Amino acid sequence: MKSTTRILALSLTFAAAAAISQAAPAAENWENLCARCHGADGKGQTKIGKKLNLKDYTDAKVQAEMKDADMVKAISAGVSENGKERMKAYKDELSAAEIDELVALVRKFKA
Ligand code: HEC
Repeated sequence: MKSTTRILALSLTFAAAAAISQAAPAAENWENLCARCHGADGKGQTKIGKKLNLKDYTDAKVQAEMKDADMVKAISAGVSENGKERMKAYKDELSAAEIDELVALVRKFKA
């Protein structure tokens, strides 16, 4: 009985450690950090998205005009216009790999 409890405690510790060290999947990051503006579907038709006049990422033309490098830059450093922040920088909360995955996810919105 005692050893069973110990094994259980150990495996819980490992599970917790794995959860902490593992980066969140892109879909989860999108839902938590990006969807309130860009929309779950990437169309930017949320209340805030409409106000900010966001691009529709399902539009092939919009996709063609965006460069991966610019997307990475926008996500890591944020987007400002006339000194006003329109989208915040995410470099402190997302790793480079997570940002790359988000760019790939944005690309998938293309209809
Ligand atoms: C406060 C609202 C807001 C949130 C939250 C937000 N964005 Fe943005 N995002 C903007 C605005 C505003 C722009 C600039 C206008 C545009 O490109 O449509 C922008 C632009 C972008 C661009 C376009 C870069 C280009 O080359 O045109 C990408 C990619 C992007 N955001 C991805 C994300 C990702 C990924 C997240 C979540 C980690 C996110 N955004 C969160 C408002 C937001």
